[in-house]
Amino acid sequence: MDPTTTPIADRDISAVVEPDIEPGNDSMQAIVQDAYGSSDVLRLAEIDRPEIAPNEVLVEVVAAGMDRGTWHSMAGKPYLMRIMGFGFRRPKNRVPGLDVAGRVVAVGSEVTRFELGDEVFGMSRGSFAEFAAVLEDKLAHKPVGLTFEEAAVVPISGGTALQGLIDSGKVETGQTVLIIGASGGVGTYAVQLAKAMGAEVTGVCSTTKVDLVRSIGADHVIDYTREDYLDGSRRYDLILDIGGNNSLSRLRRALNPTGTLVIVGGEDGGNLTGGFGRQLRALALSPLVGQRLTMLASKERHTDLEALSPYLENGQVVPFIDKVYSLAEVPAAMAHLEAGQARGKIVITI
Ligand SMILES: NC(=O)c1ccc[n+]([C@@H]2O[C@H](COP(=O)([O-])OP(=O)(O)OC[C@H]3O[C@@H](n4cnc5c(N)ncnc54)[C@H](OP(=O)(O)O)[C@@H]3O)[C@@H](O)[C@H]2O)c1
Repeated sequence: MDPTTTPIADRDISAVVEPDIEPGNDSMQAIVQDAYGSSDVLRLAEIDRPEIAPNEVLVEVVAAGMDRGTWHSMAGKPYLMRIMGFGFRRPKNRVPGLDVAGRVVAVGSEVTRFELGDEVFGMSRGSFAEFAAVLEDKLAHKPVGLTFEEAAVVPISGGTALQGLIDSGKVETGQTVLIIGASGGVGTYAVQLAKAMGAEVTGVCSTTKVDLVRSIGADHVIDYTREDYLDGSRRYDLILDIGGNNSLSRLRRALNPTGTLVIVGGEDGGNLTGGFGRQLRALALSPLVGQRLTMLASKERHTDLEALSPYLENGQVVPFIDKVYSLAEVPAAMAHLEAGQARGKIVITI
């Protein structure tokens, strides 16, 4: 399967850069945000390059991936995350963007796995920039054969899908797996990984994305706008719940008596907690019923990137890129994601 890309011509972005500092050798262009809000809080600016700690690597960014988590950090929602340390009134981290792919240009004194010039991908603190600092243990060598753009859209979403299926879901060959949110960032990896692991996969998405989910290998595709996929007429060994915020009782109805439910996320849970109560109720109920009801709080770690690499290198998992934007176009890219229009992943080229 070839990823469909819609390249956007390079533009002269220098005209719109707001200098926060005088441009110099240690400066860089980056997207910055000084308040929470919608995509108009994001602006292109000239700022200092990040300094690296002894256990960090400085990466010259070639491409950065966009994901829902970055949207949450921009919006400051659910509010629970502000209390959890993201910054109460404004984001502590001024440069958004987590997923990164690029070349190593400096290494901290304690770093052992990377050298100058290495081509890498991972989870950074601030990838919508020309340079990003990345902890060594959140970085891996770029899979052979992948472009920087493809590698940049893997870390958060691919890692979440892997952890949801293996760590939390404990998926086994031959199991029936329902993936709710199969057309999104996490879901497109989950469908392909579950297939590669020998599961029979049913993907749930909206009408215009049915073809996408079928093209990435789902055995069955259900359009949630037309069918109630949780009416209990079909039951699954494992449900990966990535979208839609269905109630626990509805999800359990479509689960085999000893099946596993993994709640990964969903966007309709309200501003306060983002619907986190559903996850807590699942954990509380699980010991009392035959089904295993659990949730995922994904971890950012290089071991997942290394575990994903063979799937990416042998073509069993192909990053599905929807659109390519330039650094100056990050606000537009974010608005595209927010509108729910993205098919798979959005990538930013630096
Ligand atoms: N637990 C964790 O550690 C963790 C890690 C990463 C992400 N997440 C969360 O997981 C969620 C998905 O992330 P993502 O990056 O995959 O987002 P995304 O790219 O925006 O995808 C969202 C998916 O949800 C589907 N969806 C939307 N409304 C739905 C509905 N009513 N019923 C069923 N499906 C529906 C979408 O399908 P259509 O587009 O076809 O409508 C799409 O497939 C987010 O809430 C994110 O915050 C959690």
